[in-house]
Amino acid sequence: MAKLIYSTIMSLDGYVADEGGNFDWAAPDEEVHAFVNDLERPVGTYLYGRRMYEVMVAWETMDTVPDQPPFVRDFTEIWKAADKIVYSTTLETVSSGRTRMERVFDPEAIRQMKSQSERDISVGGPGLAGQAFTAGLVDGCHLFLTPIVVGGGTRALPNDVRVKLELLDERRFGNGMVHLHYRTST
Ligand SMILES: NC(=O)c1ccc[n+]([C@@H]2O[C@H](COP(=O)([O-])OP(=O)(O)OC[C@H]3O[C@@H](n4cnc5c(N)ncnc54)[C@H](OP(=O)(O)O)[C@@H]3O)[C@@H](O)[C@H]2O)c1
Repeated sequence: MAKLIYSTIMSLDGYVADEGGNFDWAAPDEEVHAFVNDLERPVGTYLYGRRMYEVMVAWETMDTVPDQPPFVRDFTEIWKAADKIVYSTTLETVSSGRTRMERVFDPEAIRQMKSQSERDISVGGPGLAGQAFTAGLVDGCHLFLTPIVVGGGTRALPNDVRVKLELLDERRFGNGMVHLHYRTST
């Protein structure tokens, strides 16, 4: 049975983007990126809210940008090889391979996908992930805390749900980011 995992890079005060929609402060350096690549390698399917998809779809053409470092080329391959499902009521078409669109988020369909998939499933951004938390579908999360307080913006975690978590692992990076790996517990 596959796990549904929420991974995000967030500010210390819990936001994925600040009030201006900016998240350049969350950009991973080479050490963090290489670590993220290894976490993402087992993922078979990404479930994306439309906003996160609009950011991540840049990886579809990253291999046309010359002189990318190995960790960027590595993630490009990982991303392109995975299946993607984009949730949106407004998007007309998708512009990446192995990608389909859903107009509604159906928790039962995800439950079935988890029971039938051999590879793990990732969910993001936080709007869509919040619905997965509410439906009790999230098995674990990888939170990367960035050493910055941004004061407001888009919350990384939903504010209308209570979830108990068990800490499985932690790691600190040279740039001051901290990785926390939790599994949800009942
Ligand atoms: N910190 C980082 O490293 C990082 C990285 C990438 C992006 N970001 C930022 O993270 C944010 C993305 O998160 P978000 O929470 O704003 O958005 P999100 O969860 O990625 O996407 C929300 C959108 O998904 C669609 N959606 C959600 N639930 C749905 C449902 N039940 N049925 C159908 N469609 C559904 C809707 O699209 P429609 O409006 O089309 O219906 C909704 O507007 C953005 O601000 C982005 O810039 C941060």
